Amino acid sequence: MAEDLQILQSADKAAQYQSLLPQIEALIQGETDLTANLANIAAALKEQFKWFWVGFYLVKNGELVLGPFQGPVACTRIGLGKGVCGAAWQQRKTLIVPDVEAFPGHIACSSLSQSEIVVPFFKGDEVVGVLDVDSELLDQFDETDALYLEELVKMIVF
Ligand code: SME
Repeated sequence: MAEDLQILQSADKAAQYQSLLPQIEALIQGETDLTANLANIAAALKEQFKWFWVGFYLVKNGELVLGPFQGPVACTRIGLGKGVCGAAWQQRKTLIVPDVEAFPGHIACSSLSQSEIVVPFFKGDEVVGVLDVDSELLDQFDETDALYLEELVKMIVF
């Protein structure tokens, strides 16, 4: 496995995902350790997209607990239905938040974060964690991000 990523410099977000996702697949293929794979996925996403914060929360004993991430320190535990992450977990669907100030109950781990996307992932029928991405800019995430990030989390094996 090559450990260096090819970063596509392009204004086309879909093209960036199309370049990155097969590389991530190759990166995690054959590695069974969940922490190692989540850490590399967070690093790869950060390298390609330079987002403010990207990382994982995993469901443990009925709450979301901070997992591997890239970016500033973050809240460690989030309850079901709390914040964007807890809402995505409860609703079992991707949530795109163009302006976090306008999201009731948003948890401000950093005051710099302005928009966010949270993508839950599943083992069988059960949500086992969420991928959370934050931007310092408003309105940075759309259906293209949802499409590719949902594809990405399906690669994670529990
Ligand atoms: N803003 C999230 C909390 C996690 S941090 O952004 C890393 C939320 O409202 O769930």
